[in-house]
Amino acid sequence: MERKHIVVLGSVNTDLVLRCAALPAAGQTVHGSDFRCMPGGKGANQAVAAARLGASVRFIGSIGADEFGRAARDNLDAEGIDTRHLREARDVATGTAMILVDASSGQNCIALSEGANALVDADLVDAAAADICSAALLVCQLETPTAATLYAAQLAHGAGVPVLLNPAPAAPLDAALLGLVDLLVPNESEAMVLAGLPTHGPFDAARVLDALHGMGARSVLVTLGAQGVLHSDSRAQTHHPAQIAHAVDTSGAGDAFIGALSAALVAGMPLVAAIEFAQRAASLSVTRHGAMAAMPYLRELT
Ligand code: RIB
Repeated sequence: MERKHIVVLGSVNTDLVLRCAALPAAGQTVHGSDFRCMPGGKGANQAVAAARLGASVRFIGSIGADEFGRAARDNLDAEGIDTRHLREARDVATGTAMILVDASSGQNCIALSEGANALVDADLVDAAAADICSAALLVCQLETPTAATLYAAQLAHGAGVPVLLNPAPAAPLDAALLGLVDLLVPNESEAMVLAGLPTHGPFDAARVLDALHGMGARSVLVTLGAQGVLHSDSRAQTHHPAQIAHAVDTSGAGDAFIGALSAALVAGMPLVAAIEFAQRAASLSVTRHGAMAAMPYLRELT
């Protein structure tokens, strides 16, 4: 059977974005500017990133029967993504993310209202079973319920389809899910949460990777922002330095990395080349505003 599409199981959000001179501390009010309402959601962003880089992408997710949901579907359709398994749920709003971007560093903080993303369930995954089992890769995150992700990963694993999990937002992981994941791609704070280590203080790569492998993770890619990317599996650990860019907005950089990595891997690129390609995509994305809007096109990376 020919396997060439990527299935992304994940979230769809509307991003409400404000730029601030500095991110507010607890109890503080700050002035913001340049308010924007943009399509987002880690799942949808990763799907768009992969599609813009030439991958055929099928999306599984849930939106509300509201204006934001309709806009999100139209947007994914316009990106050439197959949305047959994007279900419209009644009486619940499309997921929303409030994003504050630090105008000087490009760093951000995000608060989410999951809305319809919470309704991604086993029935929806079942309806997409044929797409999952014939895929080249299943890509998931943690903005949709873990039970559905676990079920999709079981279907994929049973059919010999590799599973990439981006454990974001950070949460402790079910060992059953971790056991089905072929490639785990956290950022450094997500890796520390998964490893059960405190997130304050310096990133201790050896300790984090030991803990993750000890929990059953086979192949781990930790994205470290300006510090590059670490890859670790049973054979070796390698470090891939970052391609430095002037960041105006880092939201979605991880999604750019994962979408590009996925597109490169299913196109047959070896892992090291795919990592470098994905780093280029992520570093270009941070030079632009927005998350999904910043995803690069293939012509910009070749
Ligand atoms: O990774 C960036 C994304 O996280 C945003 O688009 C927002 O919707 C949140 O899900």
